[in-house]
Amino acid sequence: MQLNFELNGQPVTLFVDGAMRALDLLRERCGITGPKEGCGSGECGACAIWIDGVTKLSCLMLAAQLQGRTVTTIEGLAKDEPHPLQQFFVKKGAVQCGYCTPGMIMTAAELLTHEKMPDREMIRNAISGNICRCTGYHKIVDAVEDAAEAMQGLKP
Ligand code: FES
Ligand code: FES
Repeated sequence: MQLNFELNGQPVTLFVDGAMRALDLLRERCGITGPKEGCGSGECGACAIWIDGVTKLSCLMLAAQLQGRTVTTIEGLAKDEPHPLQQFFVKKGAVQCGYCTPGMIMTAAELLTHEKMPDREMIRNAISGNICRCTGYHKIVDAVEDAAEAMQGLKP
């Protein structure tokens, strides 16, 4: 099928097997390696992307489901400089092996689009579908909290 969608702000047209997974399409046909395959079954969140601004698991989506949609990956989140979440994940030591990081940040970034100052419980709830095997989550929650403050001008 011919597939047309917007990927990180750029129009994309591809001829694809619509039954391939969206995760494979992004990684193998579009050269987008931010979304990772962890479990491949909707359990770990490593493959999280935004579809029309809403976090979705690309391992559970078909390529055909991207037709006409706006797709954002971690590669598209930074503008002129890294997104505050990216900056504070580094500053707070919330990145270790980094495998969960793109999915974790996409999930947290969606939270911050509708909750400007989430408390720790809200952050934990939001990222509850994202598994991290390294950090113990504490530093991740710290990083999201600090990024939220920075985005509100409350933190340098
Ligand atoms: S790879 Fe998609 S949820 Fe784990
Ligand atoms: S930093 Fe390694 S899985 Fe999260």
